[in-house]
Amino acid sequence: MATLRLDKLVAEAAGVPRTEARKLILKGQVQLDGEICRAIDRKVDPTTVELCCGGAALSHQANVYLMLYKPKGVVSASRDGRDETVVDLVQGTYPRRELFPAGRLDKTSTGFVLLTDDGTFAHQILAPRRHVSKEYFVELDTPLTQQMIDGFAEGVTLADGEKMMPAGLFAVEGEPNSARVVLRQGVYHQIKRMFGVFDAGVNELHRSAIGEVRLDESLLPGQFRELTAQEVEVLRSTTAGK
Ligand code: URA
Repeated sequence: MATLRLDKLVAEAAGVPRTEARKLILKGQVQLDGEICRAIDRKVDPTTVELCCGGAALSHQANVYLMLYKPKGVVSASRDGRDETVVDLVQGTYPRRELFPAGRLDKTSTGFVLLTDDGTFAHQILAPRRHVSKEYFVELDTPLTQQMIDGFAEGVTLADGEKMMPAGLFAVEGEPNSARVVLRQGVYHQIKRMFGVFDAGVNELHRSAIGEVRLDESLLPGQFRELTAQEVEVLRSTTAGK
């Protein structure tokens, strides 16, 4: 995260003009991590600093939205007694945020996990009736068949009798055991169970997109970045009113 001059940060966080922010700083009204700071040009990282003005805590950014490339072996939870979690991977950068994953990937799956501290946003992404699409690439232990493609398009009935919504299943050229899957719902182990109906096992499962937002190709497993304001807006508008 880029640093900001203290007077700019105070002005934005307190919603006051820059001249007013400077006066507050010079009067000793502003504290950084519990210490009074009178340097109006101090460079600070708004995501990690604790800012107080006149005794009240101020937050610069209302919420944080992160795109994480989840590696294998990490669980999609906030805390876990045994395994490393997706929140463990980002918490050091955002020590004061109550981040959680908006949606889950299995421990063995890889790819795009969205982390946020905005409960309303997460609810919008996850609400079943909103049907935000998710794209996955899978590697099967058997070649993809037309029967699977037709079955997914129709809506697979899982072994326990639960009927899934129609899903997109597409071949990957030159890779008979690979496929692209597009789901509009999120049921536990859904893809593995859907392929299981056709006696196919899933060896690899990778989430490449949520709605119109694709996992950034420059990220390596375990790396993350903030969503741009435009990406947050795209996801919000995908969910709005649906
Ligand atoms: N479906 C699965 O079976 N596993 C995942 O991680 C995501 C979708």
